[in-house]
Amino acid sequence: MKKANANMKSCLQPAPKILVSCRGADGKNNALAVAYCGNCSYAPPMVMVGIVPSRYSYHMVKETKCFVVNLVGVEQKEMFDYLGSHSGRDEDKLAKCGAAVAEGEKVNAPILEDCPVNIECSVVDSIMTGSHEMFIGKVEAVHCEKSLLKENGDIDFSKINLL
Ligand SMILES: Cc1cc2nc3c(=O)[nH]c(=O)nc-3n(C[C@H](O)[C@H](O)[C@H](O)COP(=O)(O)O)c2cc1C
Repeated sequence: MKKANANMKSCLQPAPKILVSCRGADGKNNALAVAYCGNCSYAPPMVMVGIVPSRYSYHMVKETKCFVVNLVGVEQKEMFDYLGSHSGRDEDKLAKCGAAVAEGEKVNAPILEDCPVNIECSVVDSIMTGSHEMFIGKVEAVHCEKSLLKENGDIDFSKINLL
């Protein structure tokens, strides 16, 4: 196999596409599309999300120190595209795209009900890696559509058509 140097940016692919929902100190809800994310601890369960400081959501997560990771199915593509291309600075974009919102059970952030899996997280640390600040979220609760759960409580990812 012959190799040549490739561009270095975002070279770890495929990356999951998620929606991170959050709430500001003023109680305003918002969400943004995020591709810089991943698991970062098995025990205790932790995930990380990377948010650019210029995003409106960035200050919300900084202030309230929590967020929800919403896994996105192909059915939510329109919502994903909207939330990833408009800013909460300009409008209530959750209302604009007709997103159904529920209260987090463990954290002070909204859950996007249309998404099949919602992971409630509290921020335990963060690191400015460069363009993104990586927020380390301790997983406080995971909500999954019942039909997608195995008997032992694992999520059956073979049944989810992720974006
Ligand atoms: C496919 C895709 C992936 C994205 N990944 C990220 C990301 O990892 N981190 C980030 O801060 N913004 C990311 N964005 C951009 C934000 O979702 C976008 O700027 C959004 O409008 C910010 O909303 P806000 O200003 O309401 O927070 C992504 C957008 C798309 C379409």
